[in-house]
Amino acid sequence: MAVETQVATAVEGRSGKELLREVEEKYRKYYNPSLVRLLKFGGYGALEWRGEGTRVFDVDGKPYLDFAGGYGVFNLGHRHPRVVEAVKAQLELMPLSAKMFFNKPMADLAERLAQITPEGLQYSFFCNSGTESVEGALKLARLAMGKPGIVATFNSFHGKTFGSLSASGRDLFKTPFEPLLPAVSHVPFGDAEAIEAAIVEMGGNAAAVILEPIQGEGGIVVPADDYLPKVAEICKRHDVLLIVDEVQSGLARSGKMWAVEHWDTKPDILLMAKALGGGVMPMGALIGTPRVWQPLGPNPLIHTSTFGGSPMACAAGLAAIEVIEEERLAERATEMGYLLMQGLEDVRKRHPQVVKEVRGKGLMVGVELAEERFGGIIMLEMAHRGVIGVYTLNMPRVMRFEPPLIVTTSEVDQAVAAFEGAVRRARDMFKV
Ligand SMILES: Cc1ncc(COP(=O)(O)O)c(C=O)c1O
Repeated sequence: MAVETQVATAVEGRSGKELLREVEEKYRKYYNPSLVRLLKFGGYGALEWRGEGTRVFDVDGKPYLDFAGGYGVFNLGHRHPRVVEAVKAQLELMPLSAKMFFNKPMADLAERLAQITPEGLQYSFFCNSGTESVEGALKLARLAMGKPGIVATFNSFHGKTFGSLSASGRDLFKTPFEPLLPAVSHVPFGDAEAIEAAIVEMGGNAAAVILEPIQGEGGIVVPADDYLPKVAEICKRHDVLLIVDEVQSGLARSGKMWAVEHWDTKPDILLMAKALGGGVMPMGALIGTPRVWQPLGPNPLIHTSTFGGSPMACAAGLAAIEVIEEERLAERATEMGYLLMQGLEDVRKRHPQVVKEVRGKGLMVGVELAEERFGGIIMLEMAHRGVIGVYTLNMPRVMRFEPPLIVTTSEVDQAVAAFEGAVRRARDMFKV
């Protein structure tokens, strides 16, 4: 019997199968009945039990190589020992802030973020998720500029609370909740002129442009090299703030600490979450220029969060940044990303009927399939082969590969082999 099964049995007094059945039933009765179907259909009808490094183990001890990486959460892998240690130490002192005193871990993290983000970014606000960082940015942009207009991009994904949803670019998630925020205009991603036209059309009402430097859920879309510098120049010329959403691309995933560094772009506000908590704590943050922080002068409590900046989350954030730098994870993402894209490209050459394009930067890699119908079977077959791979939320035709940045060469080979096996099954099934 596998070690993990023994653990499960000892803790719960039941077999892995029994536990899974119970959990499934609770999902059906008390959580989200149709999610049960979706998980099983995708090949994930198992019970996650333990995470370690690049792997997730189910209750029966079956290992899965995590090539989804929590969509950008597990840049350091699961339970990185340095982060776990920092979190445990802080747990023994004070996990949550009393919210009445100065908080050292938060001050230290704010200082570190100012040191490691592009020039000009200085002040941080801490929250608990990506969407909250977007909400904070939209609010501060409106306040700082004294106008409401936001220009965003089609197919973007910024989160699912009302403000973030308004800026996001896929109708499927938006239409059922309308009316959303007014004065938000969408333009195609990658088209700087369209951003300028939208700003002009707002007739002096535009406060900010928000975009992901590399669209994640939109299908891992890397823009042309002149896109971000052009957008930054346009924003400057029209006196509009540039907000970059690095919730998915940030913290070394793209091969640089921040994706904007590939194009030497200096935003007014930079958003982060996911990997910031080191794969151990939930956490989000935004960092902005002194100009953006000006409205906090007369009212420092104009935007707040009870749990944001909790000592335990900040301890995780500080440890995560240390690990990224010491283990040179940005460089590693570049090297491993190159190998991964090469391997996937070879698969594409052998199976062009199924695989249309391989693209990405660092370990933010997308594989565009020739037809959307291949996605489901490939995801399922990869899971059967012990590799977690999943398509992007706004572009189901694109599978995304975002493994922990600590991934090894042989794990990359294993994932590529699993992907090719899944592609072969898709060819058999659909006779292509
Ligand atoms: C670029 C981007 N922004 C924002 C979010 C929302 O983050 P969260 O799910 O933590 O609210 C996501 C989530 O996938 C994202 O990829």
